[in-house]
Amino acid sequence: MTNPLRDPQDRRLPRIAGPCSLILFGVTGDLSRKKLIPAVYDLANRGLLPPGFGLVGFARHDFSQDEFAQLIKQAAKDGARTPWRETLWNQLAAGIRFVPGEFDDDAAWKRLADTMRELDEQQGTNGNHAFYLSIPPALFPVVVSQLREHGLATSDDGWRRVVIEKPFGHDLASAQDLNRVVAEVFPRESVFRIDHYLGKETVQNVLAFRFANGMFEPIWNGNYVDHVQITMAEDIGIGTRAGYYDSIGAARDVIQNHLLQLMALIAMEEPVSFKASSLRIEKQKILANARPTPRLDFHTAHAQYVAGWAGGEKVAGYLEEEGIPRGSTTETYAAMRIDIATRRWAGVPFYLRAGKRLGRRVTEVAVVFKPAPHQPFAKHDVEELGENALVMRIQPDEGVTLRFGAKVPGTTMEIRDVLMDFAYGGAFVESSPEAYERLILDVLLGDPPLFPQHEEVELAWEILDPVIEHWARQENIDTYTAGTWGPASADEMIARDGRTWRRP
Ligand code: BG6
Repeated sequence: MTNPLRDPQDRRLPRIAGPCSLILFGVTGDLSRKKLIPAVYDLANRGLLPPGFGLVGFARHDFSQDEFAQLIKQAAKDGARTPWRETLWNQLAAGIRFVPGEFDDDAAWKRLADTMRELDEQQGTNGNHAFYLSIPPALFPVVVSQLREHGLATSDDGWRRVVIEKPFGHDLASAQDLNRVVAEVFPRESVFRIDHYLGKETVQNVLAFRFANGMFEPIWNGNYVDHVQITMAEDIGIGTRAGYYDSIGAARDVIQNHLLQLMALIAMEEPVSFKASSLRIEKQKILANARPTPRLDFHTAHAQYVAGWAGGEKVAGYLEEEGIPRGSTTETYAAMRIDIATRRWAGVPFYLRAGKRLGRRVTEVAVVFKPAPHQPFAKHDVEELGENALVMRIQPDEGVTLRFGAKVPGTTMEIRDVLMDFAYGGAFVESSPEAYERLILDVLLGDPPLFPQHEEVELAWEILDPVIEHWARQENIDTYTAGTWGPASADEMIARDGRTWRRP
């Protein structure tokens, strides 16, 4: 029963999930072990999961219930960000179940249905179940239709939701197919597509920064902004994900989703509210008007890392990584210029770049401003003055920096760049929850604003498809040395516009 004295809109109250269970498909995969299971433990530790909570793993393996519980415990212990509490674990463990089987095996689905019924009775999960598909997209259709066939996708008593991990297709056509398959079984409000960047505090802060303050929005347009650079650099290679990564590459892996979502948040108009439907409308307008420039040979770059250095150690090139086929032309670095045809952004290029094995791990958005229309200084006074820029540091070292010129003390009027800095660590004592914690909790609460909807996903593919097709027509792929900031072709690409990449 809901407490009539509690205002459900009051965002200060802790949001605690009601009785429910989470069914993980792909429970033995990397993402489940490293992110999802630890996030479930941390949510429980923060008191945000109900006493009646169930966690069900479905996989091809032949684990006993005990072996499975042990596996989950180890993953939770290895990845938890909050302190380990054995008593809490024992409570959680009471709701953990394992269902072995293949996705096309009807008997396994029957076992799953029985398990869910048993959990409803034993744990009081009330028929509320979220199905988390952390599996290759090729398997989505079979899983979704099995959920329907076995009567698991709907319920008279509780809610049923489906959570889909990217990649949402590999191009526009496949994304449309996928969305159609899912929509045949689950209504829009029951589908939660994960883009974990939207779960990050610093990404949500883009909206707070822009719309809670009066001073930035008046200059947030082509009259004042020269260009925007969105960078997602990683120092790691592809790790143990060769199979996944080689079939996908950098642009599909992170530009189609994380970087285009970030771009939409930076560029969109003020939403009517922060409801999912209002956010979608504004993001959709940006994505529908955004296009790579027609000169794809001029304004895109893609490349693969070759052996080099990372963290002081020698590292292999992409083609030498275990599991990568000889002669693969998959890109590990992608850069492109996107133009947004709206009154606010006409003439302001958005440069997006992402890559593995770059100089260091950093994701940031830099809004670079035009110079003052007139400068009453001698030329040598402003020789060391760069561009005014506002940099949102998404991670690590989360914060916002404003770069502007200031007079060097003791000189007549020499001007040099200085930084004004906001750092989360210095301003807030609250710790940020991990993105997956926030997103899993939102799924269990049925709170959809941080999940991209199918329109956004399809529009993002419309932007990317021509670039990927253009690259596919090229026989060779450029290279860059691991540990550097990417290929020379990316520097040339931005230099054609008379600009340079920021060195984060
Ligand atoms: C994932 C990509 O979406 O994001 C990975 O598939 C990438 O390739 C990861 O490493 C990076 O996430 P984060 O949160 O560490 O920036």
